[in-house]
Amino acid sequence: MIYAANFKTNNTKAYTKEYIDKLSNFLKANNIKDEVFVFPTFCSLDSYEVPKNLTIGAQNAYPAKNGSFTGEIGLEQIDEFGIKTLLIGHSERREIFGETQEFIAKKFNFFKELGFKIIYCIGESKEIRDEGETLEYLWSEFDGIDLEYDNLIVAYEPIWAIGTGVSATKEDIDEVLSALRTKVKAPLLYGGSVKSSNINEVLSVKDCDGVLVGSASWRVESFCDIIKEGVKA
Ligand code: PGA
Repeated sequence: MIYAANFKTNNTKAYTKEYIDKLSNFLKANNIKDEVFVFPTFCSLDSYEVPKNLTIGAQNAYPAKNGSFTGEIGLEQIDEFGIKTLLIGHSERREIFGETQEFIAKKFNFFKELGFKIIYCIGESKEIRDEGETLEYLWSEFDGIDLEYDNLIVAYEPIWAIGTGVSATKEDIDEVLSALRTKVKAPLLYGGSVKSSNINEVLSVKDCDGVLVGSASWRVESFCDIIKEGVKA
């Protein structure tokens, strides 16, 4: 299983260091071999010493080595910390920052050429879901994306379940992931209000290979609880 923590705009550099140390110790002490990712804020990126199954990634990067892109970081800046893993297509990037599918595909292809591991996020709004257009919409979020890419992980995160405390039901997740599985060989994650109390239900979905966790991952104890519950199942 894959457990990924998306810090969004949370945690200081000092706490991120403490977090990564505690998480590393937890994984080692419990002999957990599942794949774990942490996506801290840009200014908390560093060269951390971590066990083999823990990877630090960047939440975003501009598709350029460097240049005049005020407020962004590029390849040169993430390279400095040996970062080779990126989140792309998160609904907050799409909605708040207006990233279009065309731009997202450009970003995807730039980092794909460099061999990055990409956690590629898709997810429908409540309106789209209410109109019964979920799958059609999700497929459109793959425009320009190479689904055969070896280093791809897909995260299905329904927007209506993100940060709301109300996760999609097992049936909802199952319906979407099994449809995605017909065309996507890459590991499939679910994200949207995942916590230790629902991790087992989420991971019991047949095509679910792991989770992308936001709010319940921001404190290290809470993220470790999710992993602890998840590996028990
Ligand atoms: P959440 O966020 O766990 O707070 O719902 C998930 C995400 O946006 O990745």
